[in-house]
Amino acid sequence: MSFDLVLFGGTGDLAWRKLMPALFQSFRHGTLPEGGRIIGVGRDDLSHEQYREQIQSRFNSVEESKRPNAEEFARFAALLEFQRMDLSKPDDYAALKSILETRNADSVVMYVATAPGLFTTVCEQLAAAGLNSDHTRIVLEKPLGHDLASNRAINETVRRCFKEKQVFRIDHYLGKPSVQNLFALRFGNALFEPLWKREHIANIQITIAEDLGVEKRGAFYENTGALRDMVQNHALQLLCAIGMEPPINAHADAIRDEKLKVLRSLKPWTAETLSQHVIRGQYSAGKSSGVSVPGYREELGVNPDSQTETFVALRTEIANWRWAGVPFYIRTGKRLAGRDAHIVVNFHQTPHPIFNAPVGAANRLVINLQPKDGLELHLLAQAQGNRSRSASQSLAPVQLDLDFDKRFGSERVGAYERLLLDVLDGRLNLFVRSDEQEEAWRWVEPIIEHWKNDAAGPRPYGAGTWGPSASSAMIARDGYCWSEES
Ligand code: BG6
Repeated sequence: MSFDLVLFGGTGDLAWRKLMPALFQSFRHGTLPEGGRIIGVGRDDLSHEQYREQIQSRFNSVEESKRPNAEEFARFAALLEFQRMDLSKPDDYAALKSILETRNADSVVMYVATAPGLFTTVCEQLAAAGLNSDHTRIVLEKPLGHDLASNRAINETVRRCFKEKQVFRIDHYLGKPSVQNLFALRFGNALFEPLWKREHIANIQITIAEDLGVEKRGAFYENTGALRDMVQNHALQLLCAIGMEPPINAHADAIRDEKLKVLRSLKPWTAETLSQHVIRGQYSAGKSSGVSVPGYREELGVNPDSQTETFVALRTEIANWRWAGVPFYIRTGKRLAGRDAHIVVNFHQTPHPIFNAPVGAANRLVINLQPKDGLELHLLAQAQGNRSRSASQSLAPVQLDLDFDKRFGSERVGAYERLLLDVLDGRLNLFVRSDEQEEAWRWVEPIIEHWKNDAAGPRPYGAGTWGPSASSAMIARDGYCWSEES
């Protein structure tokens, strides 16, 4: 199957940090379909050769095991071309069309990795140039809009120009092997499903913690914040994967229909829940891995009086028969105590204790997403090593530990590699449909509105901690605690 992959934003950050390394990995593994061409598009006046040199030098910042040697790069570079375009000029799309017509590849992928402000222009211009036929796919990176209205406006334009089956909206969390494993855990095994409901589960906690700060993206982040950057998309997608009903099959729409139902069932916000169940924070100076780091307001491109949140913790419920009354806690932030994404499913404790057992230490499934990828089942077992009579009545926590990295190691496919291959194959399972995206925006919007009118602003937390203490207080009001506190 021949393909042309047109990379708008071909000289940008995403192209060289994520997309080129992912394309190279699948080229190296022999999974990139034969007969491909990758056309980087940018405003610079570069020859194909200059573009290849630029990409090659960028590979020096990629982790060593994923860097091509000279011979490998020479073979990969044969796929790379460059096309200068001004994205507002119809003539430049006409020129692109003639280039694509020279090969008439089986599929054409338009990957829009530009500044979000250009998404609709690119879609409209592609359609006007007739570059939207059925064998064309369009890939859109997040953020798709800033709120519900802007998201809808983008989706309307995209729908006018392309059919939904041609549109691949990326949420790179769905491409992570650990997140796909979550679907496998729930729907490939019969073991947990009978327990997966309010009768057996006390609460579920989703944590996506980052140890890094905003790095060089201060100016972008300043207008975005953790709610839009992580909760509206990645965290809600994880919540859907945990909370959805089993789909009738593994086809894209069957999965997306079930995710949409979860988003529609999220409990609507009230004035009370907005003030009690949502905590926002902003990091101040502190230590990350033992090194002193500046506070968010001191970061490059950030307003010294910034009110942007770098941390969010919230409590919600899925209002349906399976989940009514079960709290779902979401927590994400930058400059937290470590890079750690995991989901904790806390089952109910035994109804009538007959042993001497530590409270809250077991009956728990932990789904580790990153940097560890695996499952831990926390149980209680007979305490060993103490011969006294009372010890025979005592239980101690033990765990079953499954490490997917050890089990599958080098066979694992990275998120962008997986997603790019799926786009080339036309598989939409791991991409987000427009109605899902709009529903997620609809649900976060009351929080955005509430914060606009809340003069208190985000609560400070020291870099290298688990966020403001109000986050622990919120969950403690329900009688629970975050996993690292138990
Ligand atoms: C991106 C956010 O979508 O996800 C970033 O814009 C964040 O701010 C990143 O750092 C986290 O992704 P990962 O794969 O490193 O967990």
